[in-house]
Amino acid sequence: MQFTANSLESHWMPFTGNRDFKSDPRIVTKAEGVYFWDQHGGKILDASSALFCSPLGHGREEIAEAVYEQLQRHDYSPHFQMGHPGSFELAEKVTRITPDPLNHIFFTNSGSESVDTAIKIAMAYHRANGEGQRIRFVSRERAYHGVNIGGVSLSGMVKNRETFPGVMPNVVCLRHTWMEENTFSRGQPERGVEFADDLKRICETYGGATIGAVFVEPIAGSTGVLVPPKGYLERLREICDEHGILLVFDEVICGFGRTGKAFGAQSFGVTPDIMTIAKALTNGAQPMGGVVVRDEIYKTITSSAPESSIEFFHGYTYSGHPAACAAGIATQNIFQNENLFERANGLVDYFQDSMFTLKNMDCVKDIRGYGLMNGIELKPKGAPGSLGTRLQKELFWNGIHIKFTGDCGIVAPPFIIEKEQIDNIVSILRETFSRI
Ligand SMILES: Cc1ncc(COP(=O)(O)O)c(C=O)c1O
Repeated sequence: MQFTANSLESHWMPFTGNRDFKSDPRIVTKAEGVYFWDQHGGKILDASSALFCSPLGHGREEIAEAVYEQLQRHDYSPHFQMGHPGSFELAEKVTRITPDPLNHIFFTNSGSESVDTAIKIAMAYHRANGEGQRIRFVSRERAYHGVNIGGVSLSGMVKNRETFPGVMPNVVCLRHTWMEENTFSRGQPERGVEFADDLKRICETYGGATIGAVFVEPIAGSTGVLVPPKGYLERLREICDEHGILLVFDEVICGFGRTGKAFGAQSFGVTPDIMTIAKALTNGAQPMGGVVVRDEIYKTITSSAPESSIEFFHGYTYSGHPAACAAGIATQNIFQNENLFERANGLVDYFQDSMFTLKNMDCVKDIRGYGLMNGIELKPKGAPGSLGTRLQKELFWNGIHIKFTGDCGIVAPPFIIEKEQIDNIVSILRETFSRI
């Protein structure tokens, strides 16, 4: 296929400047290990694990074979009022590594669906408890919770909201946790625990008993790796407990080893009531997400309806799709057999040390890092975000893929990366940044 502007017109691409892209397309034609290849044969190091979803690297045969075998044997059957073995096996595997007592998982097809499902679970739980007055949700500035209406309502990113005014009502935002004094913090910033007290003020203003749930990413990923200040998540947990509010961790990026442990919840030692997951659940090889809930939430909702009736009027045609489950099981087996959470954790110091060597470059405004994830924020040049967009393209042609949000690059390499490849990322970044 020739990749000319005309031949690309039919596909309206997501989160992409379509006209700009089609005039100079970057087409990935192959992915293997930590590399992509472009349409001209150029090799690109995948420094963001695609969109943070491929920590095992690309082209894992075990996953491909599991999906192929599954599709040949049993391609699809619905999950409404019938089941197949794979979803139960995957649920078992995932809930073995989620924090106790989060032992029940509802499958979806993406992070966005997980967030909207979590909103509905919170609503159903409070209603089953006779607390239907809990109609408010709390989120945070600079949050990203996907693109469905629920997730956009909770989103704290202006570009994702401003075109869509008719979102869910009754959402209140906490302030984000970035502060000038914490620039170049490595790990959890020392200052900023008091940002959690915004939740107290919201409870005082609206009444804690009117709030259903607080949604936060343990580390705000998409807006540039905002690591929670020390004590912040603990304080949110305390305030939620005081007021009977559910705490939801959106672990779509943090989950499955990115923070050095299985989930951000375990890395930060705070157990939420609900966790949303997706991405690395299947290594990105099949679309899949999930919502993991505490025993009590599952029991409350399932026992609230008469014995033989449906308890939760929600589900997707492809919830727990057999091929996605096969990919999920194979992915979880690889994590376990290759000790990849431990491997990722073992690389953290080297990775963060390397990234922080860019600290003194003129164009760098801030660097933040935790686990195998680092946000490198550049001083804007021209309109906010224009430098980031330009750099993402330049870096691709210079041999690395890095996801930019605004003027912040988010580096989150696959867990199988070698130290020399980390050196390579840093040297391409240094070289590209020196020409800004
Ligand atoms: C924290 C968080 N929640 C939700 C989503 C949405 O996931 P998806 O793109 O799979 O719908 C993302 C995607 O990056 C995310 O980072």
